[in-house]
Amino acid sequence: MIRQVSKTELPDILVLEAECFPPGEQWSPTAWNDEFGPATVFGQYADGRLIAVASIVVTADVADLRTIAVTASARHRGIATALLHHVFDWAATQGARRVLLEVDDHNIPAIKLYQKLGFAEISLRHNYYPNHHDALVMEYSLSQPSSSSAREGNPLVLGIESSCDETGVGIVRGNELLANEVASSVELHVRFGGVVPEVASRAHLQAIIPTLRRALETADVDLTELDAIAVTAGPGLMGALVVGLSAAKALAAVTNKPLYGVNHLVGHVAVDLLEHGPLPQPTAALLVSGGHSSLLAVRDITGDITELGATIDDAAGEAYDKVARLLGLAYPGGPVIDREAQSGNPKAIRFPRGLTTPKDLEKHRFDYSFSGLKTAVARWVETARLEGREISIPDVAASFQEAVCDVLTAKAIDACEYLGTEHLLMGGGVAANSRLRALLEERARANGITVRRPRPALCTDNGAMIAVLGAACVSAGRPPSTLDIGANPGLAVQQVLV
Ligand code: KG4
Ligand code: ZN
Repeated sequence: MIRQVSKTELPDILVLEAECFPPGEQWSPTAWNDEFGPATVFGQYADGRLIAVASIVVTADVADLRTIAVTASARHRGIATALLHHVFDWAATQGARRVLLEVDDHNIPAIKLYQKLGFAEISLRHNYYPNHHDALVMEYSLSQPSSSSAREGNPLVLGIESSCDETGVGIVRGNELLANEVASSVELHVRFGGVVPEVASRAHLQAIIPTLRRALETADVDLTELDAIAVTAGPGLMGALVVGLSAAKALAAVTNKPLYGVNHLVGHVAVDLLEHGPLPQPTAALLVSGGHSSLLAVRDITGDITELGATIDDAAGEAYDKVARLLGLAYPGGPVIDREAQSGNPKAIRFPRGLTTPKDLEKHRFDYSFSGLKTAVARWVETARLEGREISIPDVAASFQEAVCDVLTAKAIDACEYLGTEHLLMGGGVAANSRLRALLEERARANGITVRRPRPALCTDNGAMIAVLGAACVSAGRPPSTLDIGANPGLAVQQVLV
């Protein structure tokens, strides 16, 4: 908690002063006593104990930051930054337009902190300190967007993802990516040919804190600096979601930051904000992952998403994984089939395109079906084996992939026409597929549509997609979630926030 410190609390300040500075550099009790006349003193308290103090004098439109001290055990947690933002916001309310300070030019950590806050050097005072060091005079403008409104526009958000087999922690500032650390448990599932929920949950539990630490280190951010914490609340595997949610709730509770429980599927769309900025309205989105294949109309990423259609049986990624398995290829099947198909002939075998006959289109214009395709591949392979024919894995992979990509792209282009938009976005693990990217690009170009697609590393599950969706919700002024939210394995895509 940050609050003004009164003169009667001088003894607490002197204790803090003694903890922070060597004897020669401490302010004397008299100096502190006199400070209370012109200056306003603010303190940061933890468990009722004063852990940081800052003093400021406002004269007309100039604020003079006189001192700041943070106790040793509380350093590197963003406490100085939070305290100074509070003090500057207060100074602005008193009419100050700029803040000035003097800092010992040998005190590199302090100079770095001030630069990070936005201070610029304006002059040097020679021989200013008793030790004959020079003083740097630094200035910070309060007339620029005030510190707090800048934070609202570009909130610093940490996102946690644990819906399936990837433990992801990402950190963003608005639409800027600062860190994206992912620990995958995929090798643990390989021998089972699919994700084993219990194994995934245990792996999340082990990976969550190390992944969080790596992300904070990469972004060079302290938990106390965050504006919010976002987490996947669904859809996904119950036991896996619970691990990320518990971690996020604990972080939100101890840091007193708002919590945003967000939709994983919408995260797959939102991640593109990190690559290509705000979304045009409306944007059609093709969402293709291991668990979902849908066509969405996105009018507002934080609150207005409708589903035009979805798979009525298997998801596209699931079809890739199942076909890979029946061809004896490794799990996950998507990347392996993608690779095998490079050297195959996509026209070698004509596999069925689900829900594309005129009759199907009447009822299922924007729906997909991949289960019939999977069965057709299984039959073809079985027959070839019975007849003793040699099976060309690349040809089967390329032909299967062509059938999947043909239907996915045809309906996505149709969705753009239906919505009257020239903007199409692809997201989800299968959006990493090279043929899907190429075919969609080709058909979009022919129809005057531009395709937005995140780089492959952001298409598969990660924490950055959750963080950037959280940041969009903060910027849009959406109310945060309560700390008693549950995990929802079947969360509908229309529900962005829980
Ligand atoms: O989005 P994601 O990481 O997890 C879910 O939310 O499901 O998607 C994983 C799915 C898997 O089925 C995987 O086989 C598929 O994405 N995938 C691919 C490719 N890379 C991953 N499918 C086709 N081609 C790829 N290059
Ligand atoms: Zn996903």
